[in-house]
Amino acid sequence: MKSNLLRWIYLIGLSINILFAGPLFDNFKAKQQPNLVEFGNKYLKNVGPHVFYPFGGPDVTYPLLMFPDFETLTLMGLEPAQPVDDFPVELDNQSLSNLSSLYKRSFFITDQMASGVRNVTTIILKQLENLGATNIAVKAIDGKSNAVQLTFTYNDKQRLIRYYKSGLDNDQINLEFLASLKPFDAVLFKAASYLPHQKKFKTFRNFMLENANIFVQDSTGIPFEFLKDRFTLDLHGQYLMPYKFPGGFEQLSFKAYSESLNKPALNVCFGYGCRKVPTNILIARKKEVASL
Ligand SMILES: C[S@@+](CC[C@H](N)C(=O)[O-])C[C@H]1O[C@@H](n2cnc3c(N)ncnc32)[C@H](O)[C@@H]1O
Repeated sequence: MKSNLLRWIYLIGLSINILFAGPLFDNFKAKQQPNLVEFGNKYLKNVGPHVFYPFGGPDVTYPLLMFPDFETLTLMGLEPAQPVDDFPVELDNQSLSNLSSLYKRSFFITDQMASGVRNVTTIILKQLENLGATNIAVKAIDGKSNAVQLTFTYNDKQRLIRYYKSGLDNDQINLEFLASLKPFDAVLFKAASYLPHQKKFKTFRNFMLENANIFVQDSTGIPFEFLKDRFTLDLHGQYLMPYKFPGGFEQLSFKAYSESLNKPALNVCFGYGCRKVPTNILIARKKEVASL
């Protein structure tokens, strides 16, 4: 009885998301896109050419809007990916529903993707199409399964996106493979499920602290405590608390730091709790390269 009710609630939610996928993008385009582009042009110009987005899943919209000068974007997630021959693509209902989440909440939901997304390439292609990218070509990356690359033109610049299905926890991480992706000019974290805060991602966190030049992140990325001494910090918006996330991951020293700066609120959605808790984007530059 209860499970039937839950199924109905799920199906109604899914239908609403599908129904509103188009209008949700229109709304995102009108209200979020200009602010993200303005933020990128102001604070992230010339950042790149390589942007690494671990726990990025299929989100290409935020990096494309926020990093005006990137040439290569590398995404990782647990979702499967295969090349697609035919596009523009018709998204299936599950993929449409997932894409709606990005436009509505500013992020994809892991559990929702796990239960329905068979190929993230289609979701990436739909975002590229929505943003007006041209000359798109897709192919599998040689020697890797569930790895796809897309080349295209966006804002008159030729770009490359690589997606790898790849586990980054201590048990699955492949440091040799990660090292082959260097240099990490910038590393983006958004809605990363607070994974870099956790012990089982310690190897990954240490590797990134060693190898990244710049982090651009919400509070789910590298904890403030690991950044505050070795990085030059540039906080935008305010950090108050994590938004309703199991395990908490509260950062009291980050909160105190944010309060001491008393920065104005940010007018973009970037990660969990948008419109419920203040948005924050922290740009942390490694001190040796602080002059970049
Ligand atoms: C909440 S989604 C957010 C995706 C994207 N950052 C966004 O803002 O839309 C978290 C992502 O982390 C990935 N993830 C979860 N556990 C992981 C692991 N052990 N190794 C690598 N990626 C993982 C998921 O597959 C998913 O793509």
